[in-house]
Amino acid sequence: MIVKTPPMGFNTWNTFGECYNEQVIRETADAMVERGFLDAGYDYLIIDDHWQMEYRDPGTKRLMPRPGKFPNGIIPVIDYVHGKGLKFGIYSCVGARTCGGKMGSFEYEFTDARTFAEWGVDYLKHDYCLRPERSVGEVLYRRMSAALRSSGRDILFAACNWGCDDVWSWIRSTGAHTYRSTGDICDNFRSFTDIFRSQIMKLSASAPNCYNDLDMITVGMEGSGNVGTDELCSEGVYRIQFAVWCMFNSPLILGCDLRSVSDKFRDLLCNREMIRINQDPEGRAPFPIGLDDSFAFCKLLSGGEFAVLLINVNDSWNNMSFVPHDMGLTESSGYKMVLTDVLNGDTFEASDIFFIPVEPKDCRMLRGKLMKK
Ligand code: GLA
Repeated sequence: MIVKTPPMGFNTWNTFGECYNEQVIRETADAMVERGFLDAGYDYLIIDDHWQMEYRDPGTKRLMPRPGKFPNGIIPVIDYVHGKGLKFGIYSCVGARTCGGKMGSFEYEFTDARTFAEWGVDYLKHDYCLRPERSVGEVLYRRMSAALRSSGRDILFAACNWGCDDVWSWIRSTGAHTYRSTGDICDNFRSFTDIFRSQIMKLSASAPNCYNDLDMITVGMEGSGNVGTDELCSEGVYRIQFAVWCMFNSPLILGCDLRSVSDKFRDLLCNREMIRINQDPEGRAPFPIGLDDSFAFCKLLSGGEFAVLLINVNDSWNNMSFVPHDMGLTESSGYKMVLTDVLNGDTFEASDIFFIPVEPKDCRMLRGKLMKK
């Protein structure tokens, strides 16, 4: 399977945790189509932990869906999701048990991959809990990768070892298409800024066919659900989260309740210009361009364009600077930068150090190109 750009979709964990069932999945599939998420590119609907029983089928040794959640089995649900033009994702774990204590795939990788392929699964999130003491994570991911690759179906392989064991240095070689690089996200500013700060030095280890996954997006949760907290995120704070995920080439896996998320946050999550920056076919790593310890990044895009992201993490206005020199532009070049704010359409021109005001705890995302002075 070739994964050219970061995958996009929805995962049940952030909102529902253990509490989802066939009806929730069907309604979410409907919402993905009716509320414009599929049109914007979100095409994977992924069920996380707790879909499965604590033991295998005694005869076939297969994983079994929980009858309380899926009284008609899992296949009609997958068929329904496919019928909507979406792809279906499922969850398992390298350990003998999942993080939630359900049955894991340890030593049954080939059985499970074959079962998923037969059911019509298109994506597997593979977690890292309860790994037997002496088994090496790298080998276990390699094993599930081999199992999926020989299953006869194209199944996107999403590794989830939370950044342990220097995962960025070996995961691409296992065949995984995405890899979680941090612990679990919570729906607050501190949590997701810690996540993106921890990855700034590793941005080049994320590229077509194997992307660094910053975890499921919390935009639009507004404090509710399984990873909700008391600290509510402002619109600007959510804008920062989505802009960083887009700029850092992270998979865009949504975690809010797509059935009820407000139109305002639906529109942010479906912003075509921001998604275009995430989905740029060259998949190049962004690089820092700010002065001192400010958060300013540039990312080269196909067609000679580039994107700029200025993040103000402070509680006061910040006149944020970036230096054209950092982008390779010299004074004698004869070129200037022409930039457009992708959120409000403001335009700027610059050929020297440049300042743009950014609201407290907010960001600006720009798209630009070089033009003759
Ligand atoms: C781990 C993962 C989460 C989620 C839970 C499910 O914590 O990192 O994303 O899948 O397990 O139990």
